[in-house]
Amino acid sequence: MNSYEQSIEKIISKYSKVYDEMTVRSREVFKRASQVLPGGVVYHARFFHPYPLYIVRAKDTFVWDVDGNRYDDYWMGHGTHILGHAPDFIIDRVYEISKHGTHLGFENIYAVEYAELLTRIVPNCKMIRFTNSGTEANMYAVRLARAYTRRRYVVKIRGGWHGGLDQLHTAVSPPFSGPESAGLPEDLIKYTVSVSYNDLEEMERILRMCDVAAIIIEPVPGAGGCIEPVDGYLKGVRELADRYGAVLIFDEVITGFRLSLGGAQEYFNVGADIVTMGKIVGGGMPGAGAFCGREELMALLDHTKHPEPRSRSFHGGTFTGNPVTIMAGFTLIDYLSRDRERYSSFNEMWGTVAKEIDRLCEEYGRPCWTTNVGSMIGIHFTKSKPRSVEDAYYLRYSSKVYEAFHLFMRINRILYLSEKMPHLLPSMVHSKEQAKKFTETFAKFLDELKLCVST
Ligand SMILES: Cc1ncc(COP(=O)(O)O)c(C=O)c1O
Repeated sequence: MNSYEQSIEKIISKYSKVYDEMTVRSREVFKRASQVLPGGVVYHARFFHPYPLYIVRAKDTFVWDVDGNRYDDYWMGHGTHILGHAPDFIIDRVYEISKHGTHLGFENIYAVEYAELLTRIVPNCKMIRFTNSGTEANMYAVRLARAYTRRRYVVKIRGGWHGGLDQLHTAVSPPFSGPESAGLPEDLIKYTVSVSYNDLEEMERILRMCDVAAIIIEPVPGAGGCIEPVDGYLKGVRELADRYGAVLIFDEVITGFRLSLGGAQEYFNVGADIVTMGKIVGGGMPGAGAFCGREELMALLDHTKHPEPRSRSFHGGTFTGNPVTIMAGFTLIDYLSRDRERYSSFNEMWGTVAKEIDRLCEEYGRPCWTTNVGSMIGIHFTKSKPRSVEDAYYLRYSSKVYEAFHLFMRINRILYLSEKMPHLLPSMVHSKEQAKKFTETFAKFLDELKLCVST
């Protein structure tokens, strides 16, 4: 451990005591959980040191843990709750529809109405199919692209996260190569090639070399730290896809309905061939996902046009298009579509917060940098501003500072994820006072850091 890390350890040890005192019951639950849930969690991404908080309630911008502590939430259900946790008008609709069946298992009018709404809102989305998650949406999108192009290779971004599906579960975190998981043979990712975000030359090299069916990209890498596209990058990706005949898939699981109502396509004025969605599209209900595209592409899913199963691209699933998720999604997106203007003030507010965070980083001698697009904010304790997800990892002073930062914010009743890559996905109902509390607490952390590292 170098001297910088030793200093950070001092912050961790000082505030661990406070955390221990305020989260006695979470600690007990963690012990129980560890007996029945591997690692004591249902999803490792929700773990932080030394044990996670166990949340019992959420409303608007707040979550409460089992010890009764209330936190400002900047994670918002993995970026799902754009109007805050459990908005009354959505919960009422969910309750009403549930009385008529939670899962019909037949075609239903609600899915048709929601499809009509989404195809009006999302650019280049003539036809749509619903899925049960963002992972599934990406799985079916890649399959569709391969069916359409009759090619094999998929290009993804190093550090891009598209869910746990085998073929895209590579090059997500350092060293950005090979399978990201045990139990994933190299063979299953042999047609996936990864390139750096913001690097068109590397992408073109791969497109020249391989028969690329699809380029799949988060227009703004989310879990990779909300990295900003440099000017012209996304347009350049669009041009490369056209030049080399690859299908361009925008994974808008985070950016969809967040950067603008029409997602990143509308925000950046760059069109995709297939758009995948998750999170917000489900209106806060589980089982949120969809993929959509031009008619000519989506027609490959149509059993009436392709009666022979092997000639069409398969999509389906038991809970697909269930009325609860569909109705919640419809209610939310319909509401947002009546107030498009709200996106300007939403993005402006979080742009200002990001600038303030960045100003503080500057004032404190640059121990950190901010990245920001719309309401997506990344905070990086790096030597310079990251331009790619590799940068966001390899330019770090230490991973320990991320742990200290998370702990410090937590004991100040502010929550975000992940511990190893702070990215904020606030809602439209977070207040300016909350944002002020965030930046003031951030400044206090920088004070701690300055004090510790200089002594
Ligand atoms: C950009 C992106 N794509 C896909 C996924 C996977 O979605 P899900 O967790 O719903 O399967 C996520 C989840 O965080 C995501 O952020």
